[in-house]
Amino acid sequence: MEAAPLYAGKAKSLYPTDDPDQLLMVYRDDATAGNGAKHARLAGKGELNAAISAVAFGWLEAEGIPTHFLGRVDPVTHRVQALRMLPVEVVVRNRLAGSLASRLGQPEGMALPEPVVEFYYKDDALGDPMVLGEHLVALGKMDLDQVGRVRASALAVNRILAARLGRAGLELVDFKLEYGLSRGGELLVGDEISPDTARLWDRATGERLDKDRFRRDLGELVPAYREVLDRLERDHATL
Ligand code: TMP
Repeated sequence: MEAAPLYAGKAKSLYPTDDPDQLLMVYRDDATAGNGAKHARLAGKGELNAAISAVAFGWLEAEGIPTHFLGRVDPVTHRVQALRMLPVEVVVRNRLAGSLASRLGQPEGMALPEPVVEFYYKDDALGDPMVLGEHLVALGKMDLDQVGRVRASALAVNRILAARLGRAGLELVDFKLEYGLSRGGELLVGDEISPDTARLWDRATGERLDKDRFRRDLGELVPAYREVLDRLERDHATL
């Protein structure tokens, strides 16, 4: 990719296309943790995340959940719909882990009786605090109807992903989604769905096959992501 990106995030860059309603999303090999305190380039990560994310968006589309994903352009690039992003990260949790385990003072791993949906307000100066949907309404960032629709969509995404990943022997512990509005005002799942943004544990052994390997120095990351993709492709082949 030669041109300057429109936007470069921590692990992906966005480039314009000839069509103002479409963008190219390039998955890079960068890995960051601790708000950028830790950084590495892990050869092959971008390609694996692009492939895994494409599979996940395909599942959602097949089940009638609209997403920004239009197709793969090359191994690291997705063609996506241009969205006006909502300034919120939506986390869905099926088991206690990460920041919720810390917040509640409990060990990781306990299955939650019901999935938990959390909203985080994307604001660097504030450090992306967890907020209520009503707080986002108060700030004028979303209306109450959108809060309800995002929550319902995130729970539907969770059901689909947990079922498909489960068939591949992967436990969907938690994950993060981002949403945006198309030019026509349709609410779409955006960003990525990958082991960078989801906790995936081997159902048989509990081994972590996600970015916690990098965050917590648990072992090599790229072979684990390759294992995730291999399992998804194997599962697909048996459909
Ligand atoms: P947490 O336990 O650190 O709050 O993370 C919950 C899930 O959300 C986990 O699967 C990782 C994902 N996540 C992101 O993708 N980006 C983020 O900035 C954060 C904080 C979490």
